[in-house]
Amino acid sequence: MGKEFDVAIVGATGAVGEVMRLILEERRFPVRELRLLASARSRGKRLAFRGEEIEVEVLEEASFDGVDLALFSAGASVSRLYAPEAVKAGALVVDNSSAFRMEPDVPLVVPEVNPGDIDGHCGIIANPNCSTIQMVVALKPLHDRWGLRRVIVSTYQSVSGTGRRALQELEEQLRCWAQGGDGPVEVYPHPIAFNCLPHIDVFQEEGYTREEWKMVRETRKIMSLPDLKVTATAVRVPVRVGHSESIYAEFEEEVDPEEAREILREAPGVAVEDDPQRDLYPQALNAEGKDPCFVGRIRADLFLPNALNFWVVADNLRKGAALNAVQIAELWAGKTS
Ligand code: A2P
Repeated sequence: MGKEFDVAIVGATGAVGEVMRLILEERRFPVRELRLLASARSRGKRLAFRGEEIEVEVLEEASFDGVDLALFSAGASVSRLYAPEAVKAGALVVDNSSAFRMEPDVPLVVPEVNPGDIDGHCGIIANPNCSTIQMVVALKPLHDRWGLRRVIVSTYQSVSGTGRRALQELEEQLRCWAQGGDGPVEVYPHPIAFNCLPHIDVFQEEGYTREEWKMVRETRKIMSLPDLKVTATAVRVPVRVGHSESIYAEFEEEVDPEEAREILREAPGVAVEDDPQRDLYPQALNAEGKDPCFVGRIRADLFLPNALNFWVVADNLRKGAALNAVQIAELWAGKTS
C-alpha cells in the first residue's frame, strides 16, 4: 500500500473548503485521517467524508499536531496567523489565500503550467487566484507555440468566489425582488442581483483593484514572464458558480485560430467548446461541478495577425481553488511517497 497522509482542511465549512473535502474523496487522495477546522461558529457541526461523519473542530495553534498536509481556505488573515504554525508542526501547507503568493520563496503553482516550481518550497505552496488559474491554463500552450507578448482580460466572476455569505446575499436579493421588495446589501457595496460590479477586492494604485493586480503579478510569476504586459478588468456578475473571461492575447509571431484550437484540444486541463454555428461555447452554468477550463470563441483579431481573442470558463471553486490545491497536493505526495 502507498503512503497515507493525515490531512487538515482549514475553513472546512466554507464554499471552497466544502469542495476540497469532496475532491479529496473524489480523487481518492490517500487520506489516513481528515481533520476539519473552522471558527467557533461551526463548533460541533458534522460533515461527511467517505461515508463517515467527521466533527468540525475549532482552529487553534495545536490543531496541526501530527498533520502532514494542511489545505488552507479561510482567508488571508487566518493563513498569516496559522500557516506558520502548521509548518512548525511539520505539515506542508497549500494555501488558497493571497497571504504568501508573491513571497519569493513560496512557489505559486498551477500543475498544468509550472509543476516543477513546487520543488523550491519551504513548507508553503500557494494556490493562485481563481481568475489567474483559468487564464494561465489556456495561455500556456499558446505561449509555448507563439511566444506571449501582451494580454488584455475582462472577467465575469461569480459570487461564490466571495464565499458562502455572498451566495446567500444573491439568493436573498432575488427572493425579495420576486416579492416586490429589496434584499439586504451587506457583502458588496451595491446590489449584485441584476447588476455587474467592476469592483473586486479593494481599489489600489493606478485605479486598478487588488484582484486586477493579482492577475498581473501572479500571471507573471506562474509563467516566469516577469515583464509580461497584462491589463485586467475584474467584474462581479450575478452568477452563482463559474468565472468567465474574455481574453485578448498578443504574440511574438503570427497566429492561426485553427491551430490554436488544435493546440488547446491537446492541452492538459483544457476542453475546447467552440462551434458557434451550433450555439456551442463555454457557459458558467455548464462548467459548474466540472474540472476543465473550457475554451471557446477562438478567433483572430481583425486587424492584427499576431493576436487572438477567446473566452475561458471554469468552475472557480474547483479548478479556481479546491481542485488546483488538491492537484498541488498530489504532486507533492507523489514526490514524498
Ligand atoms: P465558519 O464557517 O466557522 O465561519 P467562506 O469563504 O465561504 O466565507 O468560508 C470561510 C471559511 O473560513 C469558513 O469555513 C469559516 O468558518 C472559516 N473561517 C473564517 N474565519 C475563521 C477564523 N478566524 N478561524 C477559523 N476559521 C475561520
